[in-house]
Amino acid sequence: MTNAGTPSRPDSGTNLDPWYGLYADRTAGLSASEVRALFAVASRPEVVSLAGGMPFVSGLPAELVAGAFERMMRDNGPQALQYGSGQGVPALREQILEVMALEGIRASVDDVVVTTGSQHALELVSKLFLNPGDVVLAEGPSYVTAMVVFNSFQADINHVPMDEFGLIPQALREAIARIKAAGKTIKFLYTIPSFSNPAGVTLTWERRLEVLEICRDNEILVLEDNPYGLLYFDSPPPHAMRSVDEDGVIYLGTFSKTLAPGFRVGWALAPHAIREKLILANEAAVLSPSSFSQLMISEYLSAADWKGQIDTFRGIYQERRDAMLSALAEFLPQLRWTVPGGGFYVWATLPDNMDSKAMLPRAVRELVAYTPGTAFYADGSGRNNIRLSFCYPTPEFIREGIRRLSTVINGEIDLLNTFSQTTPLATVPLKQGIASPPSNIG
Ligand SMILES: Cc1ncc(COP(=O)(O)O)c(C=O)c1O
Repeated sequence: MTNAGTPSRPDSGTNLDPWYGLYADRTAGLSASEVRALFAVASRPEVVSLAGGMPFVSGLPAELVAGAFERMMRDNGPQALQYGSGQGVPALREQILEVMALEGIRASVDDVVVTTGSQHALELVSKLFLNPGDVVLAEGPSYVTAMVVFNSFQADINHVPMDEFGLIPQALREAIARIKAAGKTIKFLYTIPSFSNPAGVTLTWERRLEVLEICRDNEILVLEDNPYGLLYFDSPPPHAMRSVDEDGVIYLGTFSKTLAPGFRVGWALAPHAIREKLILANEAAVLSPSSFSQLMISEYLSAADWKGQIDTFRGIYQERRDAMLSALAEFLPQLRWTVPGGGFYVWATLPDNMDSKAMLPRAVRELVAYTPGTAFYADGSGRNNIRLSFCYPTPEFIREGIRRLSTVINGEIDLLNTFSQTTPLATVPLKQGIASPPSNIG
């Protein structure tokens, strides 16, 4: 203390943050993502937000949850309010096996570890495996908050391009060869094979097998993140990669999209040896995942028609996907976009010389928000891409949102055309993969 009541501050601080100089090196990767910064603006009611990935929880009948709550408290109140096991409630882990069976996974209840959302499983797996400088392979584009986690462990994220059939196996082989030649260690491949976030594409079955084989040959773990697999529209996606490889895959699941994210319950299904360490890491982080939430979900799964509820969600999201695709065709036919067979997202490609991040304030002024493509790459790619979420707004709002977006994009195109008649504009080279799908599949 310098003066009574005035704590001294380290010299390395700044005016904004007096503790700046004391942070661990790993926090350098903890910068606010575009998505996060957006939330404040995009949540204003007059803005049509096509930016976030919030599930439409109002599609869940309140009485289903209220009924589960009453029964759970009546039958298991003290247990719900108590600490629990670091691995999770056994009854729920049994039920999770039933959920995963829908995607072809057969597993032992011993190998399921309940986590605080799958986001926390990403953190725990990273904590177990990543040393500073280790390489994580991730689809390009990839889930933004997974990359925040990998960055916070000072990993070196290398993207593998995708096309409309998901990750490109040959590109994976090339990336591995290049990274190995540089003497770096690859710890795992992070993939969202079904209805990916943000690209909305699905890895074909043949490619799933090929990717597994490549990773097995190169002793690379596969981290399969599957929040959206049960939310398919036309036909189910291929079975999970974990369904054919129990030793080489850590599989992540969640109740966030098929029930509600407010419970914060997800899980990891890990190879036997890894599972022990995961439980220890889970205990170190949270002692035990929420007993209350787990018992609520367990009660819901045993008493409610949860499969019927997932069907209801699929219908709601399919209608919204259709609204978005037809609005894109109507208002923005000059763009290219992916056609998701499930999940929450469409990935759109703007003309080469456009910068979606720079355009965002103009979009918000027109009362529409999206997520700029650069948020989904660790290397600055995605400048002329945007992610459009159709999960939350109603079909009418989606159509209005795309109409507003079209005025912004068309205004921008006009401006660029005017400029390019006098000053040549630098163009972004066409990239292989999803940033420039071969045809307008919309
Ligand atoms: C691909 C992906 N993984 C993980 C998560 C985190 O989900 P949870 O709510 O289970 O933590 C999300 C959420 O949007 C996601 O899209």
